[in-house]
Amino acid sequence: MYLKRVSVFTLCLCVLTSVYLCAGCSTAVNDLVYIVDGSWSVGSADFETAKQWLINITSQFDISSYYTQVAVIQYSDTPRLEIPLGLHQSGAELIQAIQSITYLGGNTQTGRAIRFAVDHVFSSSQRASQVKHRIAVVVTDGKSQDDVVDISMEARAQGITIFAVGVGSEITTSELITIANKPSSAYVLYAEDYTTIDRIRDSMEQKLCEESVCPTRIPVASRDEKGFELMVGMKIQTKAKKIPGSLVSEAAYALTVSTDITENTKEIFPEGLPPSYVFVATIRLKGTASKLTFDLWRVLSKDKEFQAAVTLSGKDKTVTFTTTSIRQKEQKVVFKDNFQTLYDGKWHQLKLLVRPTQVTSFLDDEPIQEILLDPMEAIYINGETQVAKRRGTDITVPVEIQKLRLYCDPYQSERETACEIYSVVRSLTMPLLPLQD
Ligand SMILES: *[C@@H]1O[C@H](CO)[C@@H](O)[C@H](O)[C@H]1NC(C)=O
Repeated sequence: MYLKRVSVFTLCLCVLTSVYLCAGCSTAVNDLVYIVDGSWSVGSADFETAKQWLINITSQFDISSYYTQVAVIQYSDTPRLEIPLGLHQSGAELIQAIQSITYLGGNTQTGRAIRFAVDHVFSSSQRASQVKHRIAVVVTDGKSQDDVVDISMEARAQGITIFAVGVGSEITTSELITIANKPSSAYVLYAEDYTTIDRIRDSMEQKLCEESVCPTRIPVASRDEKGFELMVGMKIQTKAKKIPGSLVSEAAYALTVSTDITENTKEIFPEGLPPSYVFVATIRLKGTASKLTFDLWRVLSKDKEFQAAVTLSGKDKTVTFTTTSIRQKEQKVVFKDNFQTLYDGKWHQLKLLVRPTQVTSFLDDEPIQEILLDPMEAIYINGETQVAKRRGTDITVPVEIQKLRLYCDPYQSERETACEIYSVVRSLTMPLLPLQD
């Protein structure tokens, strides 16, 4: 079962054919150190489960000296370096090494183990200058018998990102929060016990991937969300004309046929796209923009092959999502129904929640449709990313854009409301603001 999963990742054609051109989670350059509790309270059966869980969450990374290197420390009274960073050059080798780790038993000196990771493991990396992300994942089932505050602070100050995974009822939440990066909602994970640890696998995988692929934070209300602010990244705010947005408090930007919104993908998505993301666009389609078929957003390879795209067709009143596929060059899903209002000349928010196996469309917060996807490939980042281009050409379609973002956390989809849209504001019975039209 697990091996099948791995083969999907290692067969990634993109990785095989062009080592430096492709990007995604699998090709992120990480030094990843697992710090695993092997104290008596864990027990040998649960320790085996913890090992399997680590193997599972590692499967999305390409293990090699180019990409992700993994080290494993098991600790009780003292830390034991089970696997040094960079020892294994393939996923299969690494899995075998993790499987053969034997359970230690003893007390729980978590602070000491983190210190060991900082002083002896991260620092031993042979490729210190290339590594983009240094990530520690601390898995523990109980309260540490030594201090964790100082060393965790020191580690974070050195740029090491720490995730704290608490398993079972004996854990101390405040301790996990002390260990992990902030916000703790993003860096602390819980499982009720080892038998249910598989339930936090997807979220751990996504978080690890986000950490590698989504470095930027977009301030949204008071929270910081990871993602890509394309209004800034694609220079829409500097290249297009500023106009009033959907509400008086919002500004928007009007593109004309002579505005060219094109950037090198390497600058926009230097490490590709995460396995899950939320595409959000608040736009107004008037005149030709409401009649033509065009790519609101597209990522093309150097050979102009589609890596990702959101295509709008005013003619058919559809929205099409294009992405990579492990089976073919590309896969396309068409949302055929219930998108008429998007083309009515008013402000609307279009949202696509992309997950590894499905994509869900929303219009002004209303879910429209969910469609299954084939597994996706890492994307080529050697080409260009463009906004509002007619299919197959470099001609710009004059759309008005207020918001254009990609969030890395799929749960952001639930939090990203379309409050800036008049009809949604009204249905929430919030105070009405005049609509500029
Ligand atoms: C690891 O992955 C396999 C296959 O998906 C799953 O059956 C198993 O429960 C997972 N184990 C843990 C501990 O996460």
